[in-house]
Amino acid sequence: MRKTVKIMALILALMMAVSVFAGCNSAKKQEAAPAPAPAPEKKEEAKQPETKTDQKIVVGLSLPTQREERWVRDKETMEAEAKKLGIDLKVQISDNDAGKQMAQAENLLAQGINVLILAPHDATGAAPIVDMAHKAGVKVISYDRLVMNSDVDLYISFDNVKVGEIQGKYITEKVPKGNYLVLAGSPTDNNAKLFREGAMKYIQPLVDKGDIKVVHDEWVKDWQPSEAMKIAENALTANKNNIQAVLAPNDGTAGGVIQALAAQGLAGKVPVTGQDAELAAAKRIVEGIQSMTVFKDTRELGKAAIAAAIKMAKGENIESNGKVNNNKIDVPSLLLTPIAVDKDNLDKVLIDSGYLKKEDVYKK
Ligand code: GAL
Repeated sequence: MRKTVKIMALILALMMAVSVFAGCNSAKKQEAAPAPAPAPEKKEEAKQPETKTDQKIVVGLSLPTQREERWVRDKETMEAEAKKLGIDLKVQISDNDAGKQMAQAENLLAQGINVLILAPHDATGAAPIVDMAHKAGVKVISYDRLVMNSDVDLYISFDNVKVGEIQGKYITEKVPKGNYLVLAGSPTDNNAKLFREGAMKYIQPLVDKGDIKVVHDEWVKDWQPSEAMKIAENALTANKNNIQAVLAPNDGTAGGVIQALAAQGLAGKVPVTGQDAELAAAKRIVEGIQSMTVFKDTRELGKAAIAAAIKMAKGENIESNGKVNNNKIDVPSLLLTPIAVDKDNLDKVLIDSGYLKKEDVYKK
């Protein structure tokens, strides 16, 4: 009897030992188990005082102009998206006037907006608008163009250096040697600097090699097509029409340059870049007097901005896919991808996507 009890006790002791050992082993395993891959970095998250759920979200939209077709589309897209999502969108257009944009922003804040979407006419001049908005507890989304030297909360745009790279690569492959007219956009627009930076990555090395000579290089005030035309006319005169290629930063300025070339019988003979996939530019590409443009789907951009504004108003987290420094902070950013377009892929990129209509592009 005593013997059996001993054996039982032994077995029991053994079983307990086994379970204790198993316990620490699994703990070791957890320890041993490689730490789970770090969760993808939770990108910048903005917290904002809640908008009472029953209150209609009010978003202010301040745009620099409606002169370029793309800004008209940005406005239309955001108005349609706001309507669809039941938010009140208050829109102001500052006609390329920094002072007017400041006054309009003040007016929007006075109307009790929850969030401000701001595309600045003047990148540095708009910084006080961000301060003003923050004082009113309103967050600011920098739209397409970055507000410099400010604590702006989110930047939604395209990869603008990439836009320039697409233009630079295209024109240097088409004209690897010769005299170049280089234009840049408005000096008050940070995008103009980014486009130029991207394009010069391709042009400068060929200049250094002596293959390309930049015979004229100028920034175009307020992106004005008429200014671009004047600059091109002067450059053609000064160089006795001996120009083989033009870097034009957008379709508006490209149109001005091509007018100057046409006056000298050079339209279609001198390759010209562009940007914005305007209808007029698509027609010029089909006609062969403009070489290319860069497609930036403003439908995507507008929708992303309205979606972010709603999340901000609700104090929800905002996703971003990068950071862009504005000389004050690394601004959380959502950058979309631009696409090169020329006569070979125009139908596919611009018409099949529904951005432009076939009958409009090919109408004589
Ligand atoms: C830039 C914008 C371009 C262009 C230009 C002129 O900031 O990114 O798409 O059209 O302004 O408005």
